[in-house]
Amino acid sequence: MAKEENKPLEYQRRLRDTKGVAQRLDLGYLKRPAILKVLRDRLIWVLLAVAVLASVPLVLGIGGSRRAVENGPLSEAHAIFEKRCEVCHTTSFGSVTDKACSQCHDGAAHPAKLVDTGHANAQVRCVQCHVEHRGKTRLAALNSANCTSCHRDIAAHSTGAHVKNVSAFEPEKHPEFRAITLPDARPLKLNHAAHMPAEPKTLRGMKLPMNCGDCHVTDKNSPTNQLMPVTFEQNCKSCHSRELEFDIYQVLGKSVPAPHTKDAKAIREIIAAAYQKKLAEDPGIVRRPLGNDLNAEPSAASWLNRVVGESERYLFNRKCGYCHQTGGEGLVQKVNRIQGRYVEAKPEGAPWLERGEFSHRAHRAVECESCHTQARKSTKTEEVLVPAMKSCFQCHGESGTSLDECAMCHLYHNRNLEKERDRRLRELIGRGVIDPGVRQGGQR
Ligand code: HEC
Ligand code: HEC
Ligand code: HEC
Ligand code: HEC
Ligand code: HEC
Ligand code: HEC
Ligand code: HEC
Ligand code: HEC
Ligand code: HEC
Ligand code: HEC
Repeated sequence: MAKEENKPLEYQRRLRDTKGVAQRLDLGYLKRPAILKVLRDRLIWVLLAVAVLASVPLVLGIGGSRRAVENGPLSEAHAIFEKRCEVCHTTSFGSVTDKACSQCHDGAAHPAKLVDTGHANAQVRCVQCHVEHRGKTRLAALNSANCTSCHRDIAAHSTGAHVKNVSAFEPEKHPEFRAITLPDARPLKLNHAAHMPAEPKTLRGMKLPMNCGDCHVTDKNSPTNQLMPVTFEQNCKSCHSRELEFDIYQVLGKSVPAPHTKDAKAIREIIAAAYQKKLAEDPGIVRRPLGNDLNAEPSAASWLNRVVGESERYLFNRKCGYCHQTGGEGLVQKVNRIQGRYVEAKPEGAPWLERGEFSHRAHRAVECESCHTQARKSTKTEEVLVPAMKSCFQCHGESGTSLDECAMCHLYHNRNLEKERDRRLRELIGRGVIDPGVRQGGQR
């Protein structure tokens, strides 16, 4: 592999459009009892063995009548080639080569994400995973055996692999998600539990408990229902603007919160302007002693100096610290965008799951807390609230459906290396091998 393929890449996450799902989903999974699936799997192997044996004379050309062999109908995606056998069977009937497939597809290299640098010792043929002539099947809805053939003993099938062995999505057989052991060091004080007490209560007009959705809002433009970043303006201000009140001596009359902005200088200007305005409106105010003082300030200038200075210190040293870790004088530690995992040097955040896919959309019917079991009780930001693997097991792993298969949660091909596909499809349309409507449907 080329050198540049070895470093981690920004890779294309799976898009959860209808096609993306349908491809991998055996749509009968909800109805079929598990036992049928087991039987069917066994049956497939038996049939396969019979088929292989039966094809020996055919491949060798013994018996002379190839046409007598009944091949099953093509997969849904390839049904358009029912009358164009030669697009795949490029050589006289025999095994279908990878080259035949790559006329139209890249089938780009594995692993999908190139987090690590291990390379498989042997290439698996396309048709070993994407089996044809099985009727209206989904080519990409693969059985886990296609993956565990290498992954159950990865060292034996690769050089330089860094991933653990995986033999099934079951306890002990698939490694725990790495995310739950990674630190969450965001320097923001957020106490989930304080906002979600078990008993409803109202504090200074603020109604608790809050709901998850009050702070974690679904992004309607995201095909996977990603959550919007949490922001002060959208999610905290309505209750906590009092934490930005700076008027320590309460000389301004009504409460004035400072704006929540990155620009400490702007905040200082606003504070100064507020007191200047007050002084202009009510010059006599300087004759009133401040706080617990017995005497008033000697001059308007010293009054102004003091109220502005003390208010700034109060705000920056005390009040910002209600939520932030501060280094004094308006120096708030960067918290970065509240989305994904906090990594100090990455303002945009990092994905919680580095290797597996996940979409909240696929699970929108499931209660937040059946996966995020600790969120309501969490009192510290450093507690990691993304779920452990065990919260997936009630549906994935032993359901006896396609929900258990590796391909449900993992990509195989590295789409970043898939370059030629559009051009090839255009050519095929140009040659009249496929009609333009297909390409439309095939876009992802
Ligand atoms: C999208 C590609 C594709 C198309 C189109 C296609 N086939 Fe196949 N066919 C395959 C694959 C893959 C195999 C399995 C071969 C293997 O394992 O090497 C296969 C196997 C077969 C076999 C079993 C014998 C063998 O060669 O192993 C027959 C017979 C067959 N195809 C006939 C046809 C006929 C007839 C058509 C046209 C109606 C057709 N195929 C169209 C992909 C295709
Ligand atoms: C003549 C062009 C052509 C050849 C040859 C071809 N395919 Fe396809 N294939 C297509 C088109 C067109 C689609 C449907 C549109 C799309 O998904 O891009 C498709 C879809 C697929 C899909 C997606 C399946 C799904 O359910 O959506 C897989 C996987 C696939 N092909 C694998 C193969 C393999 C493996 C071979 C070789 C045995 C092969 N193809 C040969 C044109 C081809
Ligand atoms: C070890 C099994 C395996 C092998 C070998 C394999 N694939 Fe796939 N393929 C998958 C899985 C799993 C998916 C679905 C997940 C994904 O898209 O990465 C897939 C998806 C695809 C798709 C659909 C992708 C899309 O964007 O719609 C195409 C086309 C495809 N494979 C072509 C190929 C070709 C061509 C080869 C041979 C060069 C090949 N595959 C070899 C497992 C395999
Ligand atoms: C021919 C052997 C082979 C097969 C078959 C295979 N893999 Fe892999 N896989 C590898 C190797 C080698 C690596 C790289 C490991 C490393 O660098 O530590 C890897 C890495 C991975 C990774 C983690 C690395 C990452 O960056 O995402 C996942 C997840 C994965 N494979 C899933 C699958 C799935 C799903 C299938 C079946 C569709 C599959 N593999 C089939 C050899 C294989
Ligand atoms: C229900 C979803 C799901 C299923 C099913 C699943 N995985 Fe995973 N897998 C994940 C997630 C999520 C991660 C990554 C966690 C992270 O990044 O911390 C992962 C991680 C991995 C890794 C990387 C392990 C490491 O050492 O870092 C490999 C390899 C892997 N899976 C292979 C497989 C194989 C092979 C199968 C099928 C037997 C499979 N997975 C089934 C969700 C799944
Ligand atoms: C008052 C607003 C608020 C409410 C209500 C809230 N969250 Fe959060 N949540 C946050 C903020 C801010 C962060 C980022 C700070 C952090 O990492 O803890 C966060 C982080 C998270 C994270 C990921 C980061 C991590 O620390 O693991 C998860 C998962 C999460 N919340 C789930 C929930 C769930 C589930 C609920 C409902 C039971 C909920 N939250 C209710 C504000 C809220
Ligand atoms: C619906 C009103 C409401 C919203 C919106 C809200 N909070 Fe609170 N918050 C409260 C109340 C009430 C308390 C006091 C709880 C108590 O003392 O039991 C509190 C307490 C806190 C505390 C102190 C917790 C502790 O350890 O005692 C912090 C820090 C905090 N909130 C941060 C935030 C952040 C950050 C946001 C926005 C992501 C936010 N809050 C949104 C009502 C709210
Ligand atoms: C009620 C809680 C709360 C209080 C009080 C608060 N902030 Fe924040 N602050 C947040 C949250 C939540 C974020 C992250 C989301 C955002 O940017 O809106 C944030 C972000 C910031 C950022 C951006 C940091 C970065 O990483 O880019 C700065 C700067 C900041 N606050 C300054 C202040 C200052 C100065 C004060 C005091 C005047 C203050 N904040 C008071 C909740 C608070
Ligand atoms: C089926 C399990 C499941 C359910 C149900 C679920 N989540 Fe998650 N959630 C996850 C996983 C896995 C991750 C880590 C992967 C990711 O970031 O997408 C996550 C990540 C998060 C994060 C962190 C996202 C970020 O950008 O840092 C928040 C916040 C969150 N979930 C809130 C919620 C809320 C709110 C609900 C209910 C509406 C919910 N989740 C329902 C499994 C679930
Ligand atoms: C309550 C049942 C349930 C739980 C718990 C659950 N899932 Fe799922 N998951 C499903 C169903 C059902 C689907 C198929 C979605 C559909 O049919 O649209 C699915 C689909 C998925 C997909 C494919 C979605 C896509 O966009 O392609 C991934 C990945 C996945 N789940 C990962 C996980 C992980 C990781 C966990 C644990 C943190 C988990 N699931 C927990 C029921 C569940």
